[in-house]
Amino acid sequence: MDEVDQSVGATSATPVLQVSGLHRTYGAVRAVDDVSFALAAGGSLGIVGESGSGKTTTARIIVGLEQADTGRVSVNGRERTGRGRGRAHRLARAREVQLVFQDPYLSLDPRTPVGAVLREALRLHFPGADHTSRVAELLDQVGLGERSADALPRQLSGGQRQRVAIARALAVEPAVLVLDEAVAALDVSVQAQILNLLADIREQTGVGYLFITHDLGVVRCVTEQVIVMRQGRIVESGPTARVLADPQHPYTRLLLESVPRPGWDPRAIAAARRALRQA
Ligand SMILES: Nc1ncnc2c1ncn2[C@@H]1O[C@H](COP(=O)(O)OP(=O)(O)OP(=O)(O)O)[C@@H](O)[C@H]1O
Ligand SMILES: [Mg+2]
Repeated sequence: MDEVDQSVGATSATPVLQVSGLHRTYGAVRAVDDVSFALAAGGSLGIVGESGSGKTTTARIIVGLEQADTGRVSVNGRERTGRGRGRAHRLARAREVQLVFQDPYLSLDPRTPVGAVLREALRLHFPGADHTSRVAELLDQVGLGERSADALPRQLSGGQRQRVAIARALAVEPAVLVLDEAVAALDVSVQAQILNLLADIREQTGVGYLFITHDLGVVRCVTEQVIVMRQGRIVESGPTARVLADPQHPYTRLLLESVPRPGWDPRAIAAARRALRQA
């Protein structure tokens, strides 16, 4: 198939996630413009690109929160694009791919204690079963004690809340976790803890990650493959170490140069950005 040839990370026979020729426009804006890639089973693929480059729109299409104008998304070889075919179908699709957002404040109901959040997710997908031990197991998996089951979101730190959001996503044993700026709101030491946790979880469960971030340090840390998006298009892709060490596209170089460091000159970066826009 053509799509596999031009994709990233398609080293295993069937990638866990395959995205082919996605397009999505909003009026005149081409938010996603012919995006194709593959995530190897158990792999971790990063999507980087500046604000407005189409990362979240791509994620929302993959998860099913947004419709693509054209293109296909498959998980383990099964296509998941196309409009709803009833509740059972929607639930089965939700179990395949779960999303973790930047801000767990927005995704957690302030009145629901942590244990109940997890029980609700389990009840929705696996009705009738007793979930007590699974709730304890999930809390343990994300490094929260069983005692936190009674806590309300506001009684937790930002890092702890993100652990709850991760536990809720893992509850349904997804094949793919889509993390959209999932550590961006956390301070760096908490960020490191969550990134370590995510690495451990991937090792234990074999879940694949689609890791959306504007932070190239995060990409370096947690992904094996990376795609670089600009204005809805993929401008560069490949093994993360290679792309970061030897970027081929001027935009990737600019992204790398935009990371603040000693001697960094924001005005020079702004000028380079303008030049690239006009090129
Ligand atoms: N629902 C919408 N209606 C209209 N335009 C939208 C909508 N969603 C996204 N867009 C536009 O599509 C483009 C891509 O947006 P998207 O949110 O995917 O970017 P992003 O790469 O996630 O950016 P950021 O890094 O700021 O999160 C932007 O120009 C945005 O304004
Ligand atoms: Mg976004």
